Amino acid sequence: MNQTRVSKTIAVIEGDDAAPEVIQPTVELIDRMDLGITWTYPLVGEAAKAETGKSFPDVSRALIDQADTTLFGSTSGSSGSSLLYLRWGKKTFANVRPCLHLPGCSSPLANPEGIDFVIVRENLEDLYVGVEGQLADLAPLNLVGRTIRKPIHELGVGRFAIKAITREGSERVIRFAFELARTRDGQKRVTSTQKHNMLPVTDGYFLEIAREIATEYPDIEYETFIVDDFACRMIVQPQHFDVIVMPNLYGDILSDGAAGLVGSLGLAASGCYGEDYAYFEPAHGTAPDIAGKGIINPTATLLSACMMLKYLDFEDAATHLQEAIASVYAEGKRLTPDQGGTASTLDFCAATAERLNI
Ligand code: IPM
Ligand code: MN
Repeated sequence: MNQTRVSKTIAVIEGDDAAPEVIQPTVELIDRMDLGITWTYPLVGEAAKAETGKSFPDVSRALIDQADTTLFGSTSGSSGSSLLYLRWGKKTFANVRPCLHLPGCSSPLANPEGIDFVIVRENLEDLYVGVEGQLADLAPLNLVGRTIRKPIHELGVGRFAIKAITREGSERVIRFAFELARTRDGQKRVTSTQKHNMLPVTDGYFLEIAREIATEYPDIEYETFIVDDFACRMIVQPQHFDVIVMPNLYGDILSDGAAGLVGSLGLAASGCYGEDYAYFEPAHGTAPDIAGKGIINPTATLLSACMMLKYLDFEDAATHLQEAIASVYAEGKRLTPDQGGTASTLDFCAATAERLNI
């Protein structure tokens, strides 16, 4: 036994529908890399309910807390409270979603070569604070809309949602984006994107803070685009971008769009980072339409695992795993159906393992 080895614990939530079909082989693959990792399996959702009567029991929460990180398979419905805990409970404020073209991947673009940018999505605020209600309930506030020019409750029967942008929340995610840019090769550029023309008070604040923080990083180029303009630029000139930071909902939408640029959601990795915790999850959903078929693309989960290994300071293992995945695409013989191949999920993982000689 290597005495210097620092052992790490990873909590695994396998998720619903097709998610376990990618989480399980990913765990198996990493386990075979022999990094001395201990795996724990907090029960959540239906399985937890059947056993404990609760969909997110305290014991599962404790396992997440005790672990160094969590590998999270997409969940639907009943496992939602574990996701809420991993985001809002653990304050994982920066959702990092890389968009990287792997040669051999089929992209809808004619020239996807060289696409390598990262969306840093604010993960806790904006329209995701979860305050919605009836317009009529706003009557005591007598809020007059800048565009509608009358009190909002006089608009008619309807509902509202609150968009909250705080200084602290914006500062920390924007700073995170600049720090991330510093660690990346090549051009070092941070782009912020928001709808500051129509939302000068909230998104204008996000922009104001981005501009302030940019002055702390003279080594990094900073630019900004209104989010609709950015959406177009991301498609027309994706190679221009390096790190892009934005409020929550734009990041949710644009990161799926970015995944489409390089192939599909099946390739989109994701990690959510806080001050003292991070968890990793593929950006795709549970893919119920292909559940049980063994053909779900494991790339998004494997690439999320690369981010996780890096977070755990297994830098070399992360690099080797990423190179192995890239080489499976470069060879192009054992790809899953979404990438035009006939390989199963397990075939793809086996091809990756062969390249790692494990
Ligand atoms: C994502 C997902 C989630 C989100 C859902 C499942 C709540 O779409 O991780 O992007 O909107 O953040
Ligand atoms: Mn999403």
